[in-house]
Amino acid sequence: MNDLQRALKIAFASEFAFYLKAHYFHWNVEGPNFPQLHDLFGKIYEEVYSSIDTFAEEIRATGAYTPGSFSRFSVLSLIDDEVDVLPPEAMLIELLQDSDKMSEMFRVVFDAAEELGLHGLSNFLADRQDAHKKHSWMLRSTLK
Ligand SMILES: [Fe+2]
Repeated sequence: MNDLQRALKIAFASEFAFYLKAHYFHWNVEGPNFPQLHDLFGKIYEEVYSSIDTFAEEIRATGAYTPGSFSRFSVLSLIDDEVDVLPPEAMLIELLQDSDKMSEMFRVVFDAAEELGLHGLSNFLADRQDAHKKHSWMLRSTLK
């Protein structure tokens, strides 16, 4: 397995962990702003989840196998698991930090794919970076 494949698996496991956390927050958020926050977390998890299958198949197209188990994800992911039910503002802060981390991860992996001339893959990674920039914008604006 080469460095790019290793980095892709880490980004994939991290993206899945990010998706799960956004869904978890969607389920468990409480408070006077419940409808807005439930919807915001809902939009974020749906967008991220919609990218997962394509991401997995991009990894397969490099010749590597795609991880797909909680045990492998927990070893590979750079997004820390959340097991507590946090107050709404702490959910927003945590998901914002994670989204920024994801967009930085995609920026780095994009460069690795571009160096190898894998333009289809790098397009996908650029789109993921951009999607996380938008998630971060919405989370940051909600916190103001
Ligand atoms: Fe729902």
